[in-house]
Amino acid sequence: MSTQVDVRLENERSFHDDRYRDESREAQDKYYEGLEESDSRFRAFVDQFKPGDRVLELGCGIDSLAFSLAERGVEVVGIDISSVAVGLAQDEAARRGVDGVTFREMNAEVLEFEAASFEGVIGTAVLHHLDVMCAYSEMARILRPGGRSIFIEPLGHNPVINAYRNRTPGNRTEFEHPLRCEDFTLAQRYFDQVHVEMFHLFSIVSSPIAKRWWGRPIHRSLSWVDRRLLKISSRLRWHAWIAVAELRGPR
Ligand SMILES: C[S@@+](CC[C@H](N)C(=O)[O-])C[C@H]1O[C@@H](n2cnc3c(N)ncnc32)[C@H](O)[C@@H]1O
Repeated sequence: MSTQVDVRLENERSFHDDRYRDESREAQDKYYEGLEESDSRFRAFVDQFKPGDRVLELGCGIDSLAFSLAERGVEVVGIDISSVAVGLAQDEAARRGVDGVTFREMNAEVLEFEAASFEGVIGTAVLHHLDVMCAYSEMARILRPGGRSIFIEPLGHNPVINAYRNRTPGNRTEFEHPLRCEDFTLAQRYFDQVHVEMFHLFSIVSSPIAKRWWGRPIHRSLSWVDRRLLKISSRLRWHAWIAVAELRGPR
């Protein structure tokens, strides 16, 4: 008999297998064009890993960060529940001929690694697909003392963004849950320091035109407004679209 967890994991696996086989995400991708600011903040955290460090990427998909990290001498293991993603990532590794990168099919909530075996864990838009409690507990277990987890994830408090999500259910899995304040509070049980930065409030509107010559100044202006507002208003912070989180000091 399958449990609720089995149903959720199977839903995630089959949704993403289909998506990676199909690759017809263009309609939604335009909304991600204006995410440079949060992306570069995330990259700045990730770039702090040093040659020789061992880093685990959860939910690596096919746009894995493993390749750029491996070019700097970081050893990376990418895992994903989707066998299609893992197969495509392995093909890409072979095509590029990169050393120090391996990809494995695995559930991020039950990691098949020894305790204290990584300096870092990273993830792009994956935590909100997981049971965060299991994921935090597993990350804290496999990280070495002083290790860090770094994530970039969508937030779930903004009613306008949530209304859009409700109108486009086909773009999401049934069980994904953009992160809420309480998801980060839970992380404090497993990590000594939980640092979260928020990005994109009004600039969500200009994100689809951020790469056009005429849209660029609009996006820049709205991003400037966002930076100021998100700095001064702790209430508005949680209504942002994207969070970059660094979890330090596994317990
Ligand atoms: C939104 S996609 C992000 C993929 C990739 N990180 C990127 O930025 O393109 C979420 C990924 O998490 C994976 N995933 C979902 N649940 C998972 C689980 N329990 N264990 C491992 N990976 C999972 C999915 O297969 C998918 O590749």
